[in-house]
Amino acid sequence: MTDVTAAAQVVDDDLLVLGIETSCDETAAAIVEGGRRVRADVVASQIKTHAAYGGVVPEVASRQHVATIVPVIERAIAEAKIAFSDLDAVAVTAGPGLVGALLVGVETAKALAFAIGAPLVGVNHLAGHLAAAFLEHPTAAPPPSYPHLALLVSGGHTALIRVDAPGATRLLGATRDDAAGEAFDKVGKLLGLGYPGGVAIDKLAATGDARAVTLPRALAGRDDLDFSFSGLKTAAATLLAARPPAAFVDGELANFCASFQAAIVDVLVRKSRRALAREGLGALVVCGGVAANRGLRAALADAAKQDGFALHIPPPKYCTDNAAMIAAAGTQLYQRGVRAGLDLTVDPGLPL
Ligand code: KG4
Ligand code: ZN
Repeated sequence: MTDVTAAAQVVDDDLLVLGIETSCDETAAAIVEGGRRVRADVVASQIKTHAAYGGVVPEVASRQHVATIVPVIERAIAEAKIAFSDLDAVAVTAGPGLVGALLVGVETAKALAFAIGAPLVGVNHLAGHLAAAFLEHPTAAPPPSYPHLALLVSGGHTALIRVDAPGATRLLGATRDDAAGEAFDKVGKLLGLGYPGGVAIDKLAATGDARAVTLPRALAGRDDLDFSFSGLKTAAATLLAARPPAAFVDGELANFCASFQAAIVDVLVRKSRRALAREGLGALVVCGGVAANRGLRAALADAAKQDGFALHIPPPKYCTDNAAMIAAAGTQLYQRGVRAGLDLTVDPGLPL
């Protein structure tokens, strides 16, 4: 945890920061101005490549990042209509993520920062997700105030985090086993929906009956703020072994998806409400790929209305992996004087 003074939170409105993100299966570069205005946002997704294998293959991801990173950065610069020499800093994801994939982004960022003489900033991918709520978009409300609660729900993480200021965070609870996105993807695979399963389940759930299939809500009644999704995954797998999706009749697949999604959403909403009440917080930021889920967004909007908290969920393109969020988090760090040397290394297990 880092102490941050109120003065250090004021971002220079003209700062132009390039963000680079290669932690998993998206090669991304973005230019963000003043920590909020997205001047360019380029994401080259590798999803189609990995879908053939049913999940991300690390070596394939690294090779594809190598082939794509330079054109993606050049496109971001062109879209923002700036020159490399206009950049005030280069921000890059240094972890957590796949080691080979991270190395491509970090080594590219180092070479670029050295070549153009710009400062280099290493960014924690999770801090990037938290910063996504500050990005401007056409329907954006004013940015979240501090302190706030963040629900981070991605393919690798599920956590409730108290955020007192940029970089000043406290973990309140996390998953003890699978992440929510991982559970979506694994059950999506069992249902024959391909990779990533979360997106397909979300789509099918919209027309299904969430009460059709009874599935467990782990740790739901407990006082702690931890999560567990492995029991839910096992329960789903057991049901699907007894009645394979190939035997499903009309509406059965949609009902299964709706029931499974509701089991995850219920727990995420319940624990978020509990954390807000316990910490006495009035604002919730939701981030990470699963924050794109329509069922979760709707359930949280209802809860916000009932409980009276301010809800900040970025549009889906800023929930899933992107480089605009890395540039935004990098800008916050830059403002606090954080700089990385050319000896910056990657850390696949970097904690928030
Ligand atoms: O944040 P992210 O893009 O990458 C990580 O840092 O993990 O999250 C990817 C995860 C995947 O598990 C994917 O299935 C899930 O986010 N996801 C969704 C939706 N869109 C992406 N899960 C449920 N509903 C969605 N609409
Ligand atoms: Zn992510």
